[in-house]
Amino acid sequence: MVTAYDATFARLVDACDVDIVLVGDSLGMVVQGEANTLGVTLDDMIYHARCVRRGLRFAHLTVDLPFMTYQVGPDQALRSAGRLMKEGGAESVKLEGGRAIAESIRKIVHAGIPVMGHLGLTPQSVHAFGGFKIQGRGEVAAERLKEDAIRLQDAGCYAIVLEGIPAALASQVRTTLEIPTIGIGAGVGCDGQVLVMQDLLGLDDAFRPKFVKRYAALAEPIREAFGEFSREVRDGDFPDEAHSFGVGRDVTERENGESGHSGDES
Ligand code: KIV
Repeated sequence: MVTAYDATFARLVDACDVDIVLVGDSLGMVVQGEANTLGVTLDDMIYHARCVRRGLRFAHLTVDLPFMTYQVGPDQALRSAGRLMKEGGAESVKLEGGRAIAESIRKIVHAGIPVMGHLGLTPQSVHAFGGFKIQGRGEVAAERLKEDAIRLQDAGCYAIVLEGIPAALASQVRTTLEIPTIGIGAGVGCDGQVLVMQDLLGLDDAFRPKFVKRYAALAEPIREAFGEFSREVRDGDFPDEAHSFGVGRDVTERENGESGHSGDES
């Protein structure tokens, strides 16, 4: 599973044998530039889900219910989940939390909406945790997390994200459950793994947490491209003749221009 927030990247991910695309409320941080996910609204999620939906052909689309769009209770949770499905084109929804939201999950699932759970370092509880801190350390916390996982499974979740917990605990949860687990900062003993797209692609030089592996380092080449564009424009080197239009239409223009982003090429 990989996150995406727009159609361009959804199309790229979709072409790469990734099973699930997640429109995560991490968009509060990686798209909106906030310090956490708490300010993300349901309308934000619907907007980005619609963008991603248009870029997908194969991958399953799951979308996060953001903070305070389900915590009030089962009725609110079902209404919010319904909007993600009807307006956002989601094929399932993801909620953070354990036993406290089991009834809400049950209600959503009974309405025919598949639900992915999310346990461990659940970012919407960042202030309750006193920061982005690894969860499930110590016997009591580990037992509680395992029980929560079973409660989520019993409530009807089809999978559970395990975030920011010791690898050994994630392995135990996996063997306890019948449904798949998807890990992020939870070691190799999960059925699947998820990363935030910006982290996987190395788009932020400053963000280097231990659990992220960068599969590319795109920040520098992107900066180089923007810099070269800027220099060429200032120097009058772009656009050159090859990227400009004459008075008559030619073959290159028809081949390259008609599906161009700017639309009007006359
Ligand atoms: O919001 C998100 O991107 C997530 C993943 C990190 C699992 O919930």
